[in-house]
This record gives sequence, C-alpha cells and structure tokens, in this order.
Amino acid sequence: MIQDILTDGIGLPVAKHSLRKGIILAGGTGSRLFPITHSVCKQLVPVYDKPMIYYPLAALMLAGVRDILVIVNPEDIGLFSRLLGDGSQWGLDIYYAEQERPDGLAQAFLIGEEFIDGDPVCLVLGDNLFHGDGLADLLLAVSERSEGATIFGCRVEYPERYGVIDFDGDGVALSLEEKPEYPKSNFAVPGIYFFDHKVVDYAKMLEPSPRGELEITDLNRLYLERGELRVEILDESIVWFDTGVPDALADATRFVQQIQQRDGFKIACPEEIALSQGRIDRSRLGDALAKYQGTPYGDYLETL
Ligand code: G1P
Repeated sequence: MIQDILTDGIGLPVAKHSLRKGIILAGGTGSRLFPITHSVCKQLVPVYDKPMIYYPLAALMLAGVRDILVIVNPEDIGLFSRLLGDGSQWGLDIYYAEQERPDGLAQAFLIGEEFIDGDPVCLVLGDNLFHGDGLADLLLAVSERSEGATIFGCRVEYPERYGVIDFDGDGVALSLEEKPEYPKSNFAVPGIYFFDHKVVDYAKMLEPSPRGELEITDLNRLYLERGELRVEILDESIVWFDTGVPDALADATRFVQQIQQRDGFKIACPEEIALSQGRIDRSRLGDALAKYQGTPYGDYLETL
C-alpha cells in the first residue's frame, strides 16, 4: 500500500540524507513499443493514470534523493520540462541533459559528470516501476552506503531479457551478464543502481559492447571484479516492472489500476510523497490543485 511505503519512509531527514543525487535515464528510441513510441516519447506514455516517468521519479524520492538529472533525447527536452518543471513543486531540483544518441545506459554517467561532481548517485531507468511494502526502507538503507555499488536481484521467468546475476551457494555474486542466451540464474537485475563517487571514473573505462553500447552491466561488473558490489534480493513483497515492452506495459497498467482501486491510494504520486516526507508543506500544493482542478487527479490531491 502506498501509505505503508510512505510511512516506512517517514522520519527521513531529507536535508541530512547522504545520497542527494539521482539520474533518470529517459532517452532511447523505445523501439520495443513501436508504433506507440514512433512519435511519442516512451517515458511519457501512460502507465494507467500517470506518465511512465512518474514511477522512477517516485523511486528516487523514496530513496531520499533531492537533485535529479533527467537525461532525454534532444527533441524531447521541452516535453519533459513542461511536465516536471524545475522540481520545486515537489521539493526537488530537477535538471535536464541531452543524450544525443542511444549509446548505452552507462553513458548516463559521462553525460552527467558535471552534475554528479564526485558524489554518490542513484541511476533509475525511465521505464522501471517499483512498488511494495518495505521498498522505501530498502532504498533508504541502501542509499546510506557511501562506498561501492549496490544493485538488486529479482527472480523472473525470462531472465534472458535482462541483465542477469548469478550467485554461489552462499549468495555471493559470481557473474553478471547482459541478456545472455543461456542465463546462469533466474535473477534479473532491475533498472535501479546505487553507485559511489567512483562511478564516473569507472564509466570512462568502459568500451562499447558488440552491440555498440556502453553497458550498465559492464559497469556493474567493474564493481563486482573489485569486490565493491553488493546485491540486494527483492523479495516477493516488492513488485518490479520494466514497462518498455507491450505486455509489461499492459501488466503494469493493470497492476497500478488494481492496487489503487483496492487501497484507495495512488502509486507514485509525487505530490503525496513530497508532502509525507516533509519536502513541501500543504500550502505548496496550491499550484497543483489549481492546475488539476476538476480532474480525477486534482480530486485525489484535494484528499491529501
Ligand atoms: C536494461 C539493462 C538490463 C536491465 C534492464 C532493466 O535493459 O541493460 O541489464 O536488466 O534494463 O529494466 P533494457 O530494458 O534497456 O534493454
């Protein structure tokens, strides 16, 4: 329930929190959703009642992040800034950068070098949705780590569609592979990653993969090889969707609809999270109330 998530995160001293920075990577062609994304940017496509990017944005907020760099295709900057603005309405500082070409997820750290400025950073992919009891606690705990990287493992039916992590009998990570033909485990690596201050240096060491991209999996492997990678397993209480393909988009839409109708709370409502975390006070809601007045979303905001 969203309320549980929010109360899990209550007491978050946002100002003192160690992880301040997050990146949402919202570039790419979205070709797996063609023709939907032929002329519409993937991360603005709806997942039930909100644009897709609200969900990774909510994950960063739950992790206590304050400054967010949104990396987008050059032609889409205006659309994202119209939607998200400078972030002040949610107690955030949102910045934008362009990804000229889809040269891989790890390119985010080269594009974001100035923004990162030697600090730890959390990267979340613009099409990933996370929900569940204990999510905020988990993200907050991980974000307190100042050394090394933390990624997650999530049991899935078709691991070959994702980055895959393999463990030994003691749960120690052994290998990481990007979309392997023959996966060594059923654990996919979801699109949220926490890195320490070394991430830009490590990203500069990467070579493009055979498909010509700077792979996030290669970056994670650099941390693994140096003994600097931690893996947290997401248990069944946490749900993860990579909404970048039609079936997952439909599943995620159904999931959000069902949970919201059952519980009466919205998943990934930035205004609600900002209020509950004390990032904004109620008077700051005025703009959103005016903007959405007379709409179902506005009616929901009225109830907060
Ligand atoms: C990317 C990553 C993959 C990860 C996935 C999670 O794949 O390359 O390692 O498991 O995101 O959503 P993509 O969906 O961009 O192909």
